[in-house]
Amino acid sequence: MTLSRRGFLAAVASGVVLGACSDDGNGGRADREPIRRPTTTGPLPRIEGMPFTLGVASGDPRPDSVILWTRLAPEPTAGGGMPDADIPVVWEVATDDRFRSLAAAGVATASPAMAHSVHVDASGLDPARDYWYRFRAGDAESPVGRTRTTPAEDASPERLRFAFASCQNWQDGFWTPYRHLAEEDLDLVVFLGDYIYESAVNPTAARQHDGPELFDLAQYRNRYGLYKGDAGLQAVHAAAPWLVTWDDHEVDNNYADDLHEDGDPPEAFLKRRADAYRAWYEHTPVRLEPPSGPDLEMYRRVGFGDLATFHMLDERQYRSDQPCNSPIDAGPACAELDERERTMLGERQERWLLDGLARPAATWDVLANSVILAQVPIPLGEQEFFNFDQWDGYPPARRRLLDRLAERDGGNAVVITGDIHASGATDLLADFDDERSKVVGSELIGTSVSSEFDEALIEVFATAAEAAPWVTYYEARQRGYVRCEMTAEEMRADFRHVETTATRRSPIATVSSWAVEAGRPGLQEA
Ligand SMILES: [Fe+2]
Repeated sequence: MTLSRRGFLAAVASGVVLGACSDDGNGGRADREPIRRPTTTGPLPRIEGMPFTLGVASGDPRPDSVILWTRLAPEPTAGGGMPDADIPVVWEVATDDRFRSLAAAGVATASPAMAHSVHVDASGLDPARDYWYRFRAGDAESPVGRTRTTPAEDASPERLRFAFASCQNWQDGFWTPYRHLAEEDLDLVVFLGDYIYESAVNPTAARQHDGPELFDLAQYRNRYGLYKGDAGLQAVHAAAPWLVTWDDHEVDNNYADDLHEDGDPPEAFLKRRADAYRAWYEHTPVRLEPPSGPDLEMYRRVGFGDLATFHMLDERQYRSDQPCNSPIDAGPACAELDERERTMLGERQERWLLDGLARPAATWDVLANSVILAQVPIPLGEQEFFNFDQWDGYPPARRRLLDRLAERDGGNAVVITGDIHASGATDLLADFDDERSKVVGSELIGTSVSSEFDEALIEVFATAAEAAPWVTYYEARQRGYVRCEMTAEEMRADFRHVETTATRRSPIATVSSWAVEAGRPGLQEA
């Protein structure tokens, strides 16, 4: 919860009008009242230790505002270590990294009910501009983050640079790619799911989880405390605003709506989902109201002038169960696959997405998508297997989406995908059962930050990629991220891979690049 600027002005005892050492002390805008440096009053509950162990983050930017995040947690893997009391947290946004010129400031409340996390909606900012931000609680000051507002809605920005990443299993390797991602010059970072993994300790892992499989709020919070302690991850959060969606491991592997992968009763699973969603919210810089039960409507759109619209999708909370009664959620096709009412997005979100795609508001529609959309049959002997956890388990829902892309006027669809721990690129066909049908968009599949791809399956999937003529690129051995640049004419994607995640440092290289020309769907090697 954030005090309004008016509220904070009333709540602070004193403030110093800036100006002596800045241009005008007013974020560069002479027409606004000066921003006062906020202070808090009265005795504060004592915080033992350094509270800003999890860094800072920003997200869901708009032309005039951005969400700022931090959490006070001197003991992040042991319940947080904070007193059971509300703590005032001062926040400041400046137009320079030395905070000479404040553009916005205020006092937020970090409360025990939200694990002493804060989500500040810092507003009154200028479009398409860099800002720096920091927090203060008592005597402690947070690290400084850089963020950036989006261009005005009616602006025609020259370019958009963003990167996307997914799947950071703590136990599978160091997050070596993040050291490089933090150095990229980006407007946005998009995260496509598996920010934490819910699994128990793997005793042979180089870095190990902090306890058993996660089931309740305290456990989920501690796991975020472990993951968010990583210096590389903190550096990427401090470097650019993030747009975050989730996949399954933020709750439980391959869950679908209220169904647990091993068949726990839905009432028990919904309790677990409520705890997991709450912990996700507490640790993610999203422009959302805090959840109060097992539901959290998090699909949303973020615009970037007339150049791009990001559609942030939720492919877990509303989906039908994976079909064909397979214990591993993969297998040969069965009749259930064709049932029209089976859904990936749920009725409401699907309508919202299809409506949003009907009349393109920007040159590029970017669908932030957790699991692979393209059809990728896996040849196994005489049979064809499908991964039912992906859109291959939901063909009628995929058909409705592809139909919309095929029939609409204008626009260019780029789907960005995580989940599978392999890099790939594929054209999206209007009808995957007809190889000659038209291309209606492209899908870029980003490898994981650290999560492994099962060595035994690498060749199996290589065969599948070769057999699908629309798949243009596949690589499963390397970890990294994808860096994209969009202009009104072209989209370019660079697959950036490190050599290893067995060490904290490893060189990175662009191993493959793909481009799409606006108005001419289809991937071209760049
Ligand atoms: Fe994953």
